[in-house]
Amino acid sequence: MTAKLIKGTEIREKILSEIEKEVKEIKEKHGQVPGLVTILIGANPASISYVTLKIKTANRLGFHEIQDDQPADISEEDLLALISKYNNDDSINGILVQLPLPKHINEKKILNAIDPDKDVDGFHPVNVGRLMIGGDEVKFPPCTPAGIQEMIVRSGVETSGAEVVVVGRSNIVGKPIANMMLQKGPGANSTVTIVHTRTKDLAAHCKRADILIVAAGVPGLVKPEWIKEGACVIDVGVNRVGEKISEKTGKKIAILRGDVDFDKAKEIAGSITPVPGGVGPMTITMLMKNTLKSLKFSLGIA
Ligand code: GUN
Repeated sequence: MTAKLIKGTEIREKILSEIEKEVKEIKEKHGQVPGLVTILIGANPASISYVTLKIKTANRLGFHEIQDDQPADISEEDLLALISKYNNDDSINGILVQLPLPKHINEKKILNAIDPDKDVDGFHPVNVGRLMIGGDEVKFPPCTPAGIQEMIVRSGVETSGAEVVVVGRSNIVGKPIANMMLQKGPGANSTVTIVHTRTKDLAAHCKRADILIVAAGVPGLVKPEWIKEGACVIDVGVNRVGEKISEKTGKKIAILRGDVDFDKAKEIAGSITPVPGGVGPMTITMLMKNTLKSLKFSLGIA
């Protein structure tokens, strides 16, 4: 059996056109567009490429976008003042501080300073709490888990009563996606297990999964024999395992590999996300969705 490919690149286009349509309608009716500020500290190449893509996507959707690049040696105090400025700026609905931050800045302090009602990343403890409660309490689901849930739902995989096994317990992916899948409601109602580096029999747990979500950051960790026949496999791993010359641009690009042995897994799974082109494109898409949602909250139409 060859698994159905769950393509993030295709799902992204559908969601972005839904957002674009809604942005136009809101602009006509209310005279406002979603406002997003991206704050990039320093010049980490991976961060630059993520932020560039975020800005490009926001512009394409007709958002009001502010690109606020700051030097790597900005003081914590100045960064806090910058966040306070955007917290008080009514044209801004979403504040994104690109991570990781330089070592001299306390990441927790910075993320906690963002107004929870503009925290479109969903990293503020208030939003983590809202997510835990679930239902209409949730304002901004974190972007990668939200993207994963959209992919599962839009590819028609049944989640109600399904055995979901999440490999990895990070605050950004593992813990929130596990929490989201066990909530009451559509696209959830699953029985969830989280496994991690100290789990005794990783293979046995994975083998039970109707939906296997892997976010461990270990290339090829999940072996094909750990996958249940017909399972839905979501591979969140984006591991740089080398470099190659791009056929398109002639430039050096990273060779990416997921946490799952894709070539063999696709012969067993019912559906599977590729790497690249799977979960990756969904994160920025959901950031745009959260920014639109933030504007809708402020207009009282969410
Ligand atoms: N760095 C890598 N991924 C992310 C993300 O989703 N949000 C932010 N703010 N920084 C990141």
